[in-house]
Amino acid sequence: MSDGAKVSSIPQILNQASNDEREQTLRPHDFLDFVGQSKTVDRLKIMTGAAVKRGEALSHILFCGPPGLGKTTLAMILGKEMNSNVRVTSGPVIERAADLAGLLTGLERADILFIDEIHRLPRVVEEYLYSAMEDFRIDIMIDQGPNARSVSLSIPPFTLVGATTRTGLLSAPLRSRFTLQSRLDYYSAKDLCQIIKRSAALLNLQITEDCALEIANRSRGTPRIANNLLRFVRDFTQQKLFPIADQSVARDALEMLEIDRDGLDDMDKKILTTIGQNYNGGPVGLSTVAIAVGEEIQTVEDVHEPYLIQEGYLQRTQQGRVLTAKGWQKIGLAATTNNQKTFL
Ligand SMILES: Nc1ncnc2c1ncn2[C@@H]1O[C@H](COP(=O)(O)OP(=O)(O)O)[C@@H](O)[C@H]1O
Ligand SMILES: [Mg+2]
Repeated sequence: MSDGAKVSSIPQILNQASNDEREQTLRPHDFLDFVGQSKTVDRLKIMTGAAVKRGEALSHILFCGPPGLGKTTLAMILGKEMNSNVRVTSGPVIERAADLAGLLTGLERADILFIDEIHRLPRVVEEYLYSAMEDFRIDIMIDQGPNARSVSLSIPPFTLVGATTRTGLLSAPLRSRFTLQSRLDYYSAKDLCQIIKRSAALLNLQITEDCALEIANRSRGTPRIANNLLRFVRDFTQQKLFPIADQSVARDALEMLEIDRDGLDDMDKKILTTIGQNYNGGPVGLSTVAIAVGEEIQTVEDVHEPYLIQEGYLQRTQQGRVLTAKGWQKIGLAATTNNQKTFL
């Protein structure tokens, strides 16, 4: 996680992964409570069901998609379905082959090794993973110079579950070693409503249907954001002594967070405005935009851009990012002639 001082936009804060108690409380523990993503869930049910019947370890699985959509949650659910331990680590933490060897040799049969941000695994370490995934064996070099020798360690059959926000950054050999690669999509407002109502019950907050919908509509299709907005609505309801969280309470609370009706926050709007005003609607490179808005490139690319593109405010072209008509409308400006030409 980037250091706190650099984090400037609200959804970034609201979408920060945390393994603390708060996130655990609301995390679904089985498929029954896991809302949406039906394609992925159906595939996982088939795979876990079959592996359990055969008494084998589950095949390797890769989840990709923007932050907060349920990748970690699914890895934990797989552990429960398989009745296996889940060992959690993340790409940047495994610096050397020896770190990986230590992790792998500590596994028990059919355990799940969950590597978050697997695209950030150092290349040298990644290559050791290949034989581990395929042959349950890892060859490491011990000692240096004339005493250097390779030792082959065998590993119990295990399951690697990888999560990444960027499949593009994963090397082809690594990607191809996953039996299933499943992409998580942004959630519909209907699915988010269901998640919000379940979370509200767990938080002992009484909410109305339209309150849930109000929060859902402003959650950028992301359960983690929905849950965090809900927590703020709960605090707001409590502090203002409202008996129940209804639509107007939700509106006032979310207004206070400066999240607009379409779920866009200050940073999203700043990105659109910058492209519109400073770059005539584009095309402009992403790194230029990131510098202009004072945000890290990775945050713009992982957190803001996918949603802006999916909602049709922004378009990714060979030459760079281009504002769409909807994007111009959002920032309250009409497309310039120059930009219109880009579209024709
Ligand atoms: N399908 C879902 N149904 C209900 N809650 C969900 C779902 N997906 C995610 N969540 C909630 O959102 C939070 C973030 O999910 P997480 O799995 O940590 O996302 P990721 O690992 O993709 O960043 C979880 O703690 C959980 O409470
Ligand atoms: Mg996660």
